Amino acid sequence: MANAINLHEFELMAREKLDKMVYDYYAGGANDEVTLTENRAAFARLRLRPRMLRGVEKYDMTTTILGEKMAAPLLIAPMAFMALAHPEGELAVARATAARGIHYVVSTMSNYGLEDIAAASAAAKWFQLYVYQSRTATEQMVALAEAAGYSALVLTVDTPVLGRREADIRNRFHLPPGYEAKNLANAQLQHIHPAQGDSGLAAYAASAQRANLGWHDLDWLRGLTKMPLLVKGILRGDDAKRALDHGAAGMIVSNHGGRQLDTAITGIEALPEVVAAVGGSAAVLMDGGVRRGTDILKALALGAQGVLLGRPVLWGLAVDGEVGVGQVLDLLLAEFELALALCGCASLAEVTPDVLWR
Ligand SMILES: Cc1cc2nc3c(=O)[nH]c(=O)nc-3n(C[C@H](O)[C@H](O)[C@H](O)COP(=O)(O)O)c2cc1C
Repeated sequence: MANAINLHEFELMAREKLDKMVYDYYAGGANDEVTLTENRAAFARLRLRPRMLRGVEKYDMTTTILGEKMAAPLLIAPMAFMALAHPEGELAVARATAARGIHYVVSTMSNYGLEDIAAASAAAKWFQLYVYQSRTATEQMVALAEAAGYSALVLTVDTPVLGRREADIRNRFHLPPGYEAKNLANAQLQHIHPAQGDSGLAAYAASAQRANLGWHDLDWLRGLTKMPLLVKGILRGDDAKRALDHGAAGMIVSNHGGRQLDTAITGIEALPEVVAAVGGSAAVLMDGGVRRGTDILKALALGAQGVLLGRPVLWGLAVDGEVGVGQVLDLLLAEFELALALCGCASLAEVTPDVLWR
């Protein structure tokens, strides 16, 4: 067990262990990292108004999102290349989440194949999709995910091209020999090579993934699968409405962990507008900067049904594989339970907008 008492300490420990190219890729954001920093600062600016003497001693964190039971309003965000943190990569994350009843959103860019990740545990899983220039490559992945038991499809829409992550450009980020993006049936698409004067990933995304997605592509994707479709990367109410018009069952309010458009608004700031636009007719989740139990509480008070956790999962994985990921989740869930207790909320239904001070 790692000797860390919060998620920030996990990052410090992981940094010691990881190769610089990998740490920089995981930790970094786009350009000046204004949005990356704001993702934390925006949570810190929100103040809570706790209720006293509520006569509660048990706190219920369970919830249901899109008809699926969850132990807490917390999911694992899709993140690429987890084997760079630990040899068991995505398999370890799948096991740690299964043991805790937490959903895991598996990235298109996983190192292990989506079927192996599904077989590694009984974890409930959603599949995050990047759309490839090759229609067949995309269609095959969606079909494989559905057959392997993934229960929702998450289309990431904030990445028509990769954001300019300067550390990755400097480090010429690439996948070292022996590491592949296994979900791509076409062997050529599995390798991410160093690029001249650029991030290998940026060059890869530009050459292999489709840059010109439009709203009508949601209709195409819905026609490929019975899985409900969520759209990840929404930051505006009008886009949320368009997603609903095209049949999205849910959306994830997100700026991609500050890795795409620098100075973009944060997820927690964009949330109220999106929640108002959706008006309860679809699931609304958010991510970006969730590091404390109180952050989850604040997102719920602003109308999210749940949050996704990004980088700290990678830190737990780097520090101690499945055990480390489990420790990160347990720390955050214990903090969330404490936040409910100190705010006087017995269940998620009691996390209402008035627990925030404005
Ligand atoms: C190393 C790394 C890889 C990521 N890969 C993906 C990905 O493959 N697909 C995707 O939709 N989002 C990806 N994201 C974004 C996350 O899903 C999520 O939006 C973000 O990390 C949440 O912010 P947080 O790290 O502050 O918790 C990635 C983020 C990181 C840090």
